[in-house]
Amino acid sequence: MKNIIIFGAPGSGKGTYSDEIVNRYNMGHISTGDVLRGEIKNGTELGKIAEGYIQNGQLIPDDLMISILAKTYDAMPAGKGVIFDGFPRTIAQAEALKKMLAERNHDMGVMIELIVDEETLLARLLNRAIEQGRADDNEETIKKRFAVYHSQTAPLAEWFEKEGMRNTFTWKGSKETMLSEIFAFLDTLK
Ligand code: AP5
Ligand code: MG
Repeated sequence: MKNIIIFGAPGSGKGTYSDEIVNRYNMGHISTGDVLRGEIKNGTELGKIAEGYIQNGQLIPDDLMISILAKTYDAMPAGKGVIFDGFPRTIAQAEALKKMLAERNHDMGVMIELIVDEETLLARLLNRAIEQGRADDNEETIKKRFAVYHSQTAPLAEWFEKEGMRNTFTWKGSKETMLSEIFAFLDTLK
């Protein structure tokens, strides 16, 4: 499979649909949020830096995030395609990803944009707070994450549009429908 960038607001289902895509197409998966949470859990230097940003709903600085991403990408099995979940989140990260892949003669592939109304997003994240207790799933931090998404990340959709990579999927109330629309699109790429 080609590389895939899965893009959307907090709670839009990036992680959920990535798992389904990985199972169906047998590809690699990089969730930058999961990478950072792993570092925090292991008490690494990087984890100590990341923790404050995450708990406050802010983005980790671009230069740090870009170097982590390159290292993680190079550790992935070659030739299977990778799904990028939660990266890029800024124009600088998108430009860095484009450059990093070009240096390796790899293609950026396609971008999948998930559009979900904010009421649904909030309900999902508050529910996950009960089920999983993620440190940034409290209402105050969720609101900050939404604000950061709108100001820093959402404008990137236009960047992908210009690259001819943008493919938008809108939540209509059924996970099965969303998933079958995404699979129908990805099946055409194989
Ligand atoms: P990250 O972990 O990426 O969090 P996020 O973007 O806020 O997104 P979430 O993981 O909360 O949601 P999701 O879209 O994956 O949805 P999910 O499938 O879980 O990043 C966390 C933090 O790390 C950032 O705030 C930042 O500080 C830092 N960071 C990460 N990447 C960075 C970067 N590139 N640059 C700088 N900083 C970075 O679904 C949500 C819930 O809904 C789940 O419980 C799911 O089961 C449920 N759900 C219910 N119904 C559905 C449905 N129909 N479809 C999908 N999910 C559903
Ligand atoms: Mg996620």
